[in-house]
Amino acid sequence: MQLEIIPAILVKTREELLSRISLVKDHVNIIQLDIMDGEFVPNKTIGLESLHGLPDANYEFHWMVFNPEKWIEKTPGPHMHLVHVETINDFDKIMSTIKQAGGRLGLAINPETPVEKLIPYLSNVEEVLVMTVRPGFSGQKYMVEMEDKIRKIRELKPSMNIEVDGGVCLQTIHGAYCAGANYLAAASAVFSGEIKTNIENLKKTAATGCNE
Ligand code: DX5
Repeated sequence: MQLEIIPAILVKTREELLSRISLVKDHVNIIQLDIMDGEFVPNKTIGLESLHGLPDANYEFHWMVFNPEKWIEKTPGPHMHLVHVETINDFDKIMSTIKQAGGRLGLAINPETPVEKLIPYLSNVEEVLVMTVRPGFSGQKYMVEMEDKIRKIRELKPSMNIEVDGGVCLQTIHGAYCAGANYLAAASAVFSGEIKTNIENLKKTAATGCNE
């Protein structure tokens, strides 16, 4: 599986958004944009008004919002849309909205949600995002016990992209990768200090031999 370090951008203004995109754009293949509505999670970020005309890049939207289809229909383009399994009311509606917008669907799962909740949808999604913190804020502690969830999903879907997000840093990334996550999202560990070096070090540390 292709290993990717994915910078997660959690900001409140378009100015910060553009600045963070330009800082990472040339060093990674995928950029995660965190969108929060202040209801599904206790924090609010930039909203739809900030997402127009972004620089060319491969974006994934992490929708920490209720009624994600209402946001996705206004976000056209070939993006990955990571929708929380906890917010699904009508799966077919989400699928058709994403198709119409020209995007792809992945599912995100919160720490307290059992993996069984994902299983009915697994054959219809391209990616799963396992949250290793309660979503809402950067800089929280990685929940190592979520690695069981990653292992279970990897067993069920040997060749699907599995992403992990929350508290991913030099101390935790190897565990997440060895449990089966190949997409590793991080905010603090990417943006504090020298970005290019951070990304290189995270990549190297993730992939140093897993004992099977
Ligand atoms: C969690 C967000 C994450 C977060 C990660 O609410 O979805 O993307 O920004 O931040 P770090 O890497 O600092 O834990």
